[in-house]
Amino acid sequence: MELGENEPLPGENGSKSYKVGLTFNLKKGLKSDVEDLEAEYDSIETVNAIKEVLENLGCEVTLLEADKNVIQSLLNNKPDIVFNIAEGLNGRGREAHIPALLNFLGIPFTGSDETTLCIALDKELTKRILSTYGIRTPEYCLIKCTSQQIPPMDYPVIVKPNAEGSSKGISDTAIVKNEEELRKLINKNCRIYNQPMLVEKYIKGREFTVAVIGNDEDTIVFPPMEIKFRKNDERYSIYSYNVKKNYKEYVEYICPPFIEERILKDMTETARKIYNCLNCRDFSRIDFRVSEEGEVYFIEINPLPGLAPGYSDFPMITAFNGISYYDTVKMVLNSGLKRYGMSTVG
Ligand SMILES: Nc1ncnc2c1ncn2[C@@H]1O[C@H](COP(=O)(O)OP(=O)(O)OP(=O)(O)O)[C@@H](O)[C@H]1O
Ligand SMILES: [Mg+2]
Repeated sequence: MELGENEPLPGENGSKSYKVGLTFNLKKGLKSDVEDLEAEYDSIETVNAIKEVLENLGCEVTLLEADKNVIQSLLNNKPDIVFNIAEGLNGRGREAHIPALLNFLGIPFTGSDETTLCIALDKELTKRILSTYGIRTPEYCLIKCTSQQIPPMDYPVIVKPNAEGSSKGISDTAIVKNEEELRKLINKNCRIYNQPMLVEKYIKGREFTVAVIGNDEDTIVFPPMEIKFRKNDERYSIYSYNVKKNYKEYVEYICPPFIEERILKDMTETARKIYNCLNCRDFSRIDFRVSEEGEVYFIEINPLPGLAPGYSDFPMITAFNGISYYDTVKMVLNSGLKRYGMSTVG
């Protein structure tokens, strides 16, 4: 439908709304021996929470599960903009599939584009690129599942599947102290996750995550949130799958954290630099460790951070900063709308 001459612009006065498509991938509750099989996917509660915010902003929302039918659904539905939280189904580039499709169809969408999402899901590639910008990141090597060779490493190291998120493949035994343990863990992880393993120098120290919202001069870098581990046990001093799932038992969240001004400045400036270097759009979350010597290390970036209310770190950080879940979703949507030169809502 075309807007009449005297009709208000979409979103203004609450009288005409945008058609918003909400793309997502749901947890299916599949039965498996692999506990974290569906870790990255969203629950219907998260999808509904975002839908409710968008509707309260006056938008007309269509839920679009990001499976094979999504192409036809997008063509039929013709949304003005898509609010994308789809993690994708297959392959190392899975997070990029929906943004690439939306660009192909010429449909505006919130969040980073396919290139940024492709790079960020490959932890080693991201580290390699960011190193060229002078970003400090732990020493590492990438070990292919077919490789028999383990290069000399400075132990302890942490072992992570190279292209996963939500701590998938990061168990309580991810830190290893010698080559024998490393070999065993790589063999085990390769059988389950079937992809190269990133083996990184383990940074003993404090952990922080930084949320960013907006673009260009509107970019807000929030104060870091510290993930403080409650137990004095190395197994539970990483934000593993188990620790994330049972976060109330294992961690305390502190935002803003008690840290030296120098470290705070270093981390927030580095977060902004990373966001810009990777051409992130609308929002992202960036993880850091600070060594016992006070050096800030980039661990990884999430340009599609989880938005589960009361659980995901991203809305937790905005809440610590006095921003409700409603306003957090609104800020992400408005960042996207503004980028496309569309009028903002709410
Ligand atoms: N080099 C390292 N030194 C110390 N701890 C690390 C290191 N790399 C990862 N960790 C720990 O493992 C956790 C998970 O690692 P990482 O953030 O890379 O995984 P992820 O699955 O991509 O996380 P997300 O859920 O944020 O997507 C980190 O939050 C941190 O606690
Ligand atoms: Mg992380």
